Amino acid sequence: MKVIITENYDEMSKKAAEILIDVVKKNPNAVLGLATGSSPIGTYQNMIKDHEENGTSYKNVSSVNLDEYVGLTADHDQSYAYFMRTNLFDSIDIDQANTNLPCGAAADLQKECDRYNALLETKQQDVQVLGLGSNGHIGFNEPNTPFDSVTHIVDLTENTIKDNSRLFASIDEVPRQALSMGIKNIMQAKSIVMVVSGKNKAAAVKGMVKGEITPALPASVLQLHPCVTVICDKDAASLL
Ligand code: GLP
Repeated sequence: MKVIITENYDEMSKKAAEILIDVVKKNPNAVLGLATGSSPIGTYQNMIKDHEENGTSYKNVSSVNLDEYVGLTADHDQSYAYFMRTNLFDSIDIDQANTNLPCGAAADLQKECDRYNALLETKQQDVQVLGLGSNGHIGFNEPNTPFDSVTHIVDLTENTIKDNSRLFASIDEVPRQALSMGIKNIMQAKSIVMVVSGKNKAAAVKGMVKGEITPALPASVLQLHPCVTVICDKDAASLL
């Protein structure tokens, strides 16, 4: 696991974007594994800037996202589908038909998980972007999710509901469930880039990098992956 400590969020975002842009330049047909949350927004902004200024093209790129809230349709402004369109897809030349997220509004959620798992078998991520939950979750794989898990229905923990409530009008509006790639689906990526920012992540970062490899801290599984780059700002790295 390579750990890069940056001065701040902006430097973190630039470094992460450089890695992703490099993957796309080397392989115009790359499969990008993408994430939502506040952490990767700056990364996506740098990718957009590079697309506009240097013309890096995503025409033949496809993407698979980590997760989606249950019960939100793709046009809901807190859905991850909406997030991806407004924070990245609408501003680059990716063919949106080649962008994939689990559908949290599907009538049969288990069938939707099965569909997404079958898709992921055909789309190994050249690079997977990850954020980190303050409880060590990756995607929506909450503590004690088995390492061999694939896309599944998740009951969100109180901790995650509280963390994510800042983006909703009230905590009651935060969905209680999500669909998430499992840890096995994440670990199949050829490479992984994690972006982490802020003091509230410092304990999770320490556990992930230096702690025991245990489902109690899902991100610790990344110690077993051969090609992980963790880019964290000084605050997130403060306990290392
Ligand atoms: C959410 C997402 C994760 C994300 C995490 C951290 O629960 N499902 O994929 O990494 O929270 O989010 P943030 O970057 O906003 O702190």
